[in-house]
Amino acid sequence: MEQKNKRIVLTGFMGVGKSTVARHLSRLTAKRYADLDDEIERISGSTIKRIVEEDGIDQFRALETEVLADLLKDGRTSIISLGGGAWITEKNRSMIKSNGVVAVWLETTFDHCWRNIRFSRKERPLVKNKRQAKRLFEEREKVYCLADWHFVIDRGYNSFDIAQRIAADVFSIDARRSGRRRKRL
Ligand code: S3P
Repeated sequence: MEQKNKRIVLTGFMGVGKSTVARHLSRLTAKRYADLDDEIERISGSTIKRIVEEDGIDQFRALETEVLADLLKDGRTSIISLGGGAWITEKNRSMIKSNGVVAVWLETTFDHCWRNIRFSRKERPLVKNKRQAKRLFEEREKVYCLADWHFVIDRGYNSFDIAQRIAADVFSIDARRSGRRRKRL
């Protein structure tokens, strides 16, 4: 695929920083991005928490697949930040693949995610407590690792650094040399 038409999804566990990396990446590459959870909330006129609690998790997953399918069909969006469970659904993975979209896994430790989950304002109805979240993290790692690219978020790397690396490695855009400045997001 030509670099300029390349499209990606960002996947990884809750709290890894997918949405923030997507925003930085969009700015660095001048490509359009969408956040799948935001789109679900916009289209349904409800919140993820309310959908999960009132309609059930299966209904949420069905809606997630529907909204993702529309985003994939609409070729204008080059960067899609997935919710942490979207990549786990096999149908979503095959839609992503068949649309020629590259999957990028943001890989990190459970502790990194847990810190962000605890301090974030985002409501996460699937997280009950630390033990349960850790079990979910461990179960999902073997599916996340099916992604095409893995970017390990180590200590000392922030979301902007990761976005720069993805821009360089996946989009072949050297954002450091192009002189685009970091802005607070
Ligand atoms: C979910 C992750 C959430 C959101 C929903 C379910 C999951 O997104 O889609 O609460 O199953 O991991 P984030 O990964 O952005 O928190």
